[in-house]
Amino acid sequence: MSAYKPPAIPSSEITPKNLFLARRKFMQMAGGAAAAALLPTSLWAGEKLSGIVKSGYTVNEELTPYKDVTSYNNFYEFGTGKEDPAQNAGTLKTRPWTVTVEGEVNKPKVFDIEELLKMAPLEERVYRLRCVEAWSMVVPWLGFPLAELIKRVEPNSKAKYVEFVSLLDPVQMPGQRSMVLEWPYREGLRIDEAMHPLTLLTLGLYGELLPNQNGAPIRIVVPWKYGFKSAKSIVSIRFTEQQPISSWMRAGPNEYGFYSNVNPDVDHARWSQAKERRIGDFLKRKTLYFNGYQDEVAQLYAGMDLQKNF
Ligand code: MTE
Repeated sequence: MSAYKPPAIPSSEITPKNLFLARRKFMQMAGGAAAAALLPTSLWAGEKLSGIVKSGYTVNEELTPYKDVTSYNNFYEFGTGKEDPAQNAGTLKTRPWTVTVEGEVNKPKVFDIEELLKMAPLEERVYRLRCVEAWSMVVPWLGFPLAELIKRVEPNSKAKYVEFVSLLDPVQMPGQRSMVLEWPYREGLRIDEAMHPLTLLTLGLYGELLPNQNGAPIRIVVPWKYGFKSAKSIVSIRFTEQQPISSWMRAGPNEYGFYSNVNPDVDHARWSQAKERRIGDFLKRKTLYFNGYQDEVAQLYAGMDLQKNF
């Protein structure tokens, strides 16, 4: 793997210019101070996040504006339309919140969200996010490697896979009253994928705590896989011997495989994956192998037929 060297510069010293500009742009669009009073509180929650370090695992590409990152979402628990999560996710209660880490581990534990926020230095990592629907974004996430959490629970020799389970609560999540997917939302990774330094346990974006529609209070981001592998609003992480069956695999086994690595050569059953539209762009661009993270992750799949293991 090509190892980057994170510069470890506290963001209190270097306020990311893009962040500042995005915020100013948002305020201008919102019509200034009068409109600010009407903004959802989640927008300001992140003002408290401090001690953020810049990570070397960052792509140097134009950021997708904050407004698009937080208003064009997939979060079926709040509806299937792209604007639905931003409109409906206000009903999600993100405090108190715990994440149960269990299964094939020596030290199962229930982690409180406040403890998770302090577990490791929060890094800002600008990652490409490539949705299976052939659009993409560039997002400055805040989090730390999932490996940091995994080390603390000591997986045993039977732990071959990791399953992520999102919250099940049809009262808070009205989308769960219809069976568009099997609830709760489930996703999974092989343990080496989960341990990979790029796999980010994510608590924020654009310098603040995650807005509800982006999977508050805690989600996974796996940048070399299609976006649906990055489960939101996680309440449980389970270590298993058998490969977990994700909600999307149940919904369409021919369309959604377990691996779901971004791959321009493997079409979705109903559309091509060769190109994608970056949100905000007019023209499409070529899809990159492993979403551009080939140097970092290709060796995880050495010897595997990626047409079969899609
Ligand atoms: N997690 C849950 N619990 N429910 C969902 O519907 N959608 C997935 C993923 N995680 C989803 C989820 C899909 S399809 C994508 S593309 C990403 O979240 C979108 O993340 P974003 O809205 O923060 O861009």
